[in-house]
Amino acid sequence: VMAKVSLTVNGKAVELEVDTRTTLLDALREHLHLTGTKKGCDQGQCGACTVLVGGRRINSCLTLAVMHQGDEVTTIEGLGTPEKLHPLQRAFVKCDGFQCGYCTPGQICSAVAMLDEIKDGIPSHVTADLTAAPEFNIAELKERMSGNLCRCGAYSNIAEAITEVAN
Ligand code: FES
Repeated sequence: VMAKVSLTVNGKAVELEVDTRTTLLDALREHLHLTGTKKGCDQGQCGACTVLVGGRRINSCLTLAVMHQGDEVTTIEGLGTPEKLHPLQRAFVKCDGFQCGYCTPGQICSAVAMLDEIKDGIPSHVTADLTAAPEFNIAELKERMSGNLCRCGAYSNIAEAITEVAN
């Protein structure tokens, strides 16, 4: 069954006609040609497909495009440009926060939302009480970024990049 869906992607209104079974990830990559968002596992385990919906991070492979009528979606293409990088993109470059780069768009989208979650007082499993430990720490970072895998194992540089922006 085909269906129409209107959403805003990176600040631009778009209208799509998609099979109702199309994931948001496939809609972004195949219909809108925003291939910055990557497909790793396609089943919610790797985080490569992370995008922001209404400013919150989601795995775009786990949700259908038709469920996002009216939503605001931001992908890595919407965060910065080569001329004007997002601070997290700049920090990833500076700290070598990648090797092959495949997980990077997801890592960066996830980190953007994660820093907002901290600002908004959304607790992680590690620091359930943010008032008790308000400072950003590495255990909390690891927990909050645990949905984003990096098969190259660039984790320490990724953590360094995010810490630099967080502090
Ligand atoms: Fe969506 Fe792996 S591609 S979590």
